[in-house]
Amino acid sequence: MSETLLVTGATGKLGNLILDELLASGKVAPADIIATSRDTAKLAGYAAKGVQTRAADFDDAASLDAAFKGADRILIVSTDALDEPGKRLRQHLAAVAAAKKAGAKHILYTSMPNPETSVIPFAPDHLGTENAIKATGIAYTILRNGWYMENLFMALPHALSEGKWYSASGKGKLAHITRADIARAAANALASSSTGNATYTLTGEKTHTVDEIAALVSNVTGKPLEVVHVTDEQLAGGLKAAGLPDFIIPVVVSFDTNTREGHIDMVTADAGKLSGQKLTALEDFLAASKPVLLG
Ligand SMILES: NC(=O)c1ccc[n+]([C@@H]2O[C@H](COP(=O)([O-])OP(=O)(O)OC[C@H]3O[C@@H](n4cnc5c(N)ncnc54)[C@H](OP(=O)(O)O)[C@@H]3O)[C@@H](O)[C@H]2O)c1
Repeated sequence: MSETLLVTGATGKLGNLILDELLASGKVAPADIIATSRDTAKLAGYAAKGVQTRAADFDDAASLDAAFKGADRILIVSTDALDEPGKRLRQHLAAVAAAKKAGAKHILYTSMPNPETSVIPFAPDHLGTENAIKATGIAYTILRNGWYMENLFMALPHALSEGKWYSASGKGKLAHITRADIARAAANALASSSTGNATYTLTGEKTHTVDEIAALVSNVTGKPLEVVHVTDEQLAGGLKAAGLPDFIIPVVVSFDTNTREGHIDMVTADAGKLSGQKLTALEDFLAASKPVLLG
């Protein structure tokens, strides 16, 4: 009998791509996929394709009991709740508890690289969730997702328009990976018949410093882009002046600190192995994103 696969956060950018991969693979019947969201109306397109859509809010345990019923393999996509300390971990722990209550055979979770040593304020959310999953005794697959290449869109269009990219990441390196490559790896992990425990770190195939990324961006766009190396404090000041909400400034600065201190300087073969395909190189991603980069 085929297993029933469940994806939370199915309306999100990653969740959408995972569902698309599952459907395109032909390995899973749409009726054996459950897609959840706080608002199932946003999943109408998937319902029309035969996917079961259910309402699930990690802040509402009763909704999770109903949503997770009958699911064999549950992929918990981490939420985007960063505005209130402790909220995201509470949400994830509720989802893990509901997966256990529902009798899931396998839990998958989207974590982050090196949550044990990372200086990013939300790292404990991920480590706490990983530990809670392990404590259930249910078989698990932890997907420690590296930084999306798409994250570069947060800073680059503005930086290019000014010709200056303010960064506190120094000579630190990281191997960005596209959201699509992570989604393909996650979909395959979810649709596999794995019964053991595994922790994968999903990175791109090559690390780059911020100066190397800037050079690639200049090359693709034909526009000059100087990296202005600043301290964490200077970066925080610039972000405040740019109007970023106070709660998010330490998070954004910590991404650079984390890179500078080497906590995300790694390349693994995990994403390629899980996805079964060559990963998109940063150069190719940037070339395909030229219109977005140029605003
Ligand atoms: N590795 C990286 O570079 C990176 C970058 C950004 C984010 N992330 C993490 O990866 C996750 C997926 O990325 P994404 O790009 O798909 O983010 P996204 O588009 O912002 O999606 C966030 C998802 O979180 C779900 N969510 C929020 N609150 C929820 C709640 N109370 N209960 C259940 N679900 C809730 C939303 O579902 P509904 O609104 O439909 O309920 C939505 O589908 C993010 O949420 C974040 O944890 C990683």
